[in-house]
Amino acid sequence: MAESAEIILDGKSITLPVIEGTEHEKAFDIGKLRDQTGYVTYDPGYKNTGATKSAITFLDGEEGILRYRGYPIEQLAEKSTFLEVAYLLIYGSLPTQAEFDAFSYEVTQHSLVHEDIRKILDGFPSSAHPMGILSSIVCSLTAFYPKSIAPELSKEELNLNIVRLIAKLPTIAAWSYKNSVGHPYVYPRNELDYTSNFLYMMFSYPTEQYQQNPVVVSALNKLLILHADHEQNCSTSTVRLVGSANASLYGSVSAGINALWGPLHGGANQEVIEMLEAIEADGGDTSKFIAKAKDKNDSFRLMGFGHRVYKNFDPRAKIIKKAADEVLQALGKQDSPLLKIAQELEQAALTDQYFIDRKLYPNVDFYSGIIYKALGIPTEMFTVMFALGRLPGWIAQWKELRENKEPIGRPRQIYTGELERDYVGMENR
Ligand code: SDX
Repeated sequence: MAESAEIILDGKSITLPVIEGTEHEKAFDIGKLRDQTGYVTYDPGYKNTGATKSAITFLDGEEGILRYRGYPIEQLAEKSTFLEVAYLLIYGSLPTQAEFDAFSYEVTQHSLVHEDIRKILDGFPSSAHPMGILSSIVCSLTAFYPKSIAPELSKEELNLNIVRLIAKLPTIAAWSYKNSVGHPYVYPRNELDYTSNFLYMMFSYPTEQYQQNPVVVSALNKLLILHADHEQNCSTSTVRLVGSANASLYGSVSAGINALWGPLHGGANQEVIEMLEAIEADGGDTSKFIAKAKDKNDSFRLMGFGHRVYKNFDPRAKIIKKAADEVLQALGKQDSPLLKIAQELEQAALTDQYFIDRKLYPNVDFYSGIIYKALGIPTEMFTVMFALGRLPGWIAQWKELRENKEPIGRPRQIYTGELERDYVGMENR
């Protein structure tokens, strides 16, 4: 007999069917709860709430498992490329050579952006944070490609919108950096692969061509793969919620970029480096900062630690930590004081009862900034790197929601405000 749950309310019994996924996760289906009982559920932060069914990414927070379309990220990080993982997430299977070549060719052909985007970029002050620029320019793509706004798109039109976004985000990201340092924009080169092209646009100058370093390209590829999707995290849920209103892909992703910017989410990678630099500037006493993180009267948190789902090591953090050692070794930066402070901090936290009791482990953001910094990427661009990596996941999740014709997202609430009262004229207040 199918599993179910019974709720008894005012002597009446309500049965909630149980649904089960392919990895045997289970949920009570409360789709008819309010109609049958007048009650809604209450779950701030959706800690216990499944918003959708999805076939894209599986993660197990207790076991520290993360798979994209069934493939373990450990294998993808080792054997795949970011563009191939993007194809896998968006279209559901690893591409054949012909499929990958066609996809890669299309992405290359669309890496240029409209010249008028330079005018928008030039309108930003050099002090503008690149994440604000990124979300603005991505949303402006609706102006350059107005057909992308249509709620009903043919498969070809949708794929063109997807290719355009995948192709142009690195160019927009690199140009937002160049804008912030007042340097000339560098155009993409068709002979370069996706990751190399981004590095080229970031670090080349009219006076000097960037020399690709295979260690750097490989490390960045791995980082982008590890950030590519993560089921229903805050920014992906934002993309889905905006997309559920039939808003355009570009508008939905622009919203997701803003959610990712939050320091509790993707913005944490910038916060981690700034925290490590503050500890270094303060003399490197990690115990002082561990104490601050434990002090309820201190708003300081150990950035890069803790996770809503992983109550064990974030599997991505394990891979990134190993990559950090390799990259710094290869670049002759193995004596990085920030790496040493991070390792000390990690060891101190992992043996401290406060962190053990709360199952707080390093997450994806704890070591990624150390690699970005070693690659020469400026701190303010770290969350932009996260967005570059997460883009295929946002696109895949938005596409799945629209293909499944999911209803517009509209949570309920429990009202705690004033009871009905009459208007009082200004003279009587
Ligand atoms: C990402 O969801 C995703 O999948 C996100 C992400 C992705 O790929 O999309 O994995 C990317 O966002 C990673 C997380 C990056 N953020 C940070 O590193 C910021 C620091 N971490 C936290 O603020 C926190 O751990 C969160 C936001 C990540 C998770 O917060 P929760 O699940 O809401 O947990 P909580 O804030 O309720 O904390 C539970 C307890 C509290 O203590 P008590 O009230 O029980 O005494 O743990 C404490 C918190 O004070 N706590 C921390 C802490 N994180 C949680 N204390 C010190 N330092 C921390 N980092």
